[in-house]
Amino acid sequence: MNILHISIECYPIAKVGGLADVVGALPKYQKDLGNDVLVITPFHDNQFTKDATLQEVYSGTIVVGNDEHRYTIHNLVSPDLGFTVNLVHIPGLLDREQVYGHKDEIERFVAFQIAVLDWIKDKQYIPDVIHCHDHHTGLIPFMISHANAYYYIRDIPTVFTIHNAQYQGQIPYDRLNYLPDFDHSKIGLLDWDNQINPLATGIKNSWRVTTVSPTYMKELQQRANGLEGLLRDEKKKCIGILNGIDTVTWDPETDPMLIKNYGVGSVISGRKANKKWICESFGLSLDKPLFGFIGRLVSEKGADLLPDIIEESLNTTDVNIFILGSGSPETENRLRALKEKFPDRYHAHIGYDEKLSHIVYAGADFLLMPSRVEPCGLNQMYALRYGSVPIVRRTGGLKDTIIDIGEGGFGICHDQVLVWDVCYSIKRAIGFYEDEKMYKKLQRQIMKIDHSWNRSAQEYTNLYITLINN
Ligand code: ADP
Ligand code: GLC
Repeated sequence: MNILHISIECYPIAKVGGLADVVGALPKYQKDLGNDVLVITPFHDNQFTKDATLQEVYSGTIVVGNDEHRYTIHNLVSPDLGFTVNLVHIPGLLDREQVYGHKDEIERFVAFQIAVLDWIKDKQYIPDVIHCHDHHTGLIPFMISHANAYYYIRDIPTVFTIHNAQYQGQIPYDRLNYLPDFDHSKIGLLDWDNQINPLATGIKNSWRVTTVSPTYMKELQQRANGLEGLLRDEKKKCIGILNGIDTVTWDPETDPMLIKNYGVGSVISGRKANKKWICESFGLSLDKPLFGFIGRLVSEKGADLLPDIIEESLNTTDVNIFILGSGSPETENRLRALKEKFPDRYHAHIGYDEKLSHIVYAGADFLLMPSRVEPCGLNQMYALRYGSVPIVRRTGGLKDTIIDIGEGGFGICHDQVLVWDVCYSIKRAIGFYEDEKMYKKLQRQIMKIDHSWNRSAQEYTNLYITLINN
């Protein structure tokens, strides 16, 4: 089967969060199942694309509103990647280092989607299934079904995956002319709340809608920033499929980013070396349980609670806390300011640092995830694989992946997004940490849990087959 993934992020080409990890991993596993898999993503102007060997395979012209854009498609030649990638290069529009947050974001995303379809339309490549990821690609299922230019690829099934329904990519109607000619009797299929809503469009027009965990699908049918009714109406075509992780990239035995590699048999000494490096590099005292947090500093992740959690925990218990993240300037400032108060027991590294994140999974004894909303969450699975015990709020994918020790499981769970709840979980964690024998056994146990993509890659493939045979 020919599978085409369309996404704005793909690791290692461009990563902002988990979307990149998913699109950089699922294709490898689908390929191992015997499929031909192609990922198409923008040419972002960053170090990766500068260093990459690229081969131009196609060029064309698209029109977005009043602007005409030349675009080229480049094949990325890299045996390490494990799957094939094509990059859409639109000079001056897509080729920027930063993925999100540009003033002309709407034009960028629409142009990317039109260029992809323009290239497919020219019969360069005919996939058996088109898999779109998040709102940046949500107009594609509509354009395939109702834009005049794409009538002969109309029977290619489309799957739309919601990684995060918080972001919907709304477009005001005065930009309707950005879209190619389409059957105007279908305009309602673009609409939500008097705007063009690419997330809603993806849900309405794709053949199947998936979320990145089963619980998140159930949650969205109750609350989805206004789209819950739509998701209930479309229930029959909706399914939650749990994300996996790339167990080759994320393998503590071979991970080149770690200070010291280790496996289940050498977990104690290996993790000790990584923890020591963190403590020494950031001025933390040794020999205390180390609690880490890695992630976007936004309210979805419960990051606004972190300053109070840190203050309360450091005042009442003898632990170290290390934060790696960036996001809300207010949270960033509050986190920075706390360093003065707890210089040798706390550090916040504000920014994005892939290598450091790997070392934190390998060195922190516990990983905090007090998320308000977590569609899936990959951090908790990386933590397990690296032997760091996750402390999570029971929501979305966290609920589907982490079972509390008190219920015969292997993690620490709480129900509310309250400072008190997280601090209580930290106290429970200290209790487990101090029982050295039990804690070591727990680390070995969690490292052996299989969260690879094997099962879910098969589930997606089964889903595609039902569509193709329909
Ligand atoms: P989300 O996509 O909502 O941000 P996920 O848990 O799915 O959350 O994935 C987050 C990914 O981004 C993980 O690979 C995590 O390690 C990484 N990450 C998040 N923030 C940072 C950061 N500041 N530095 C390095 N990696 C980060
Ligand atoms: C989103 C979600 C996150 C999920 C990731 C990958 O960014 O916030 O929970 O793990 O997508 O699907």
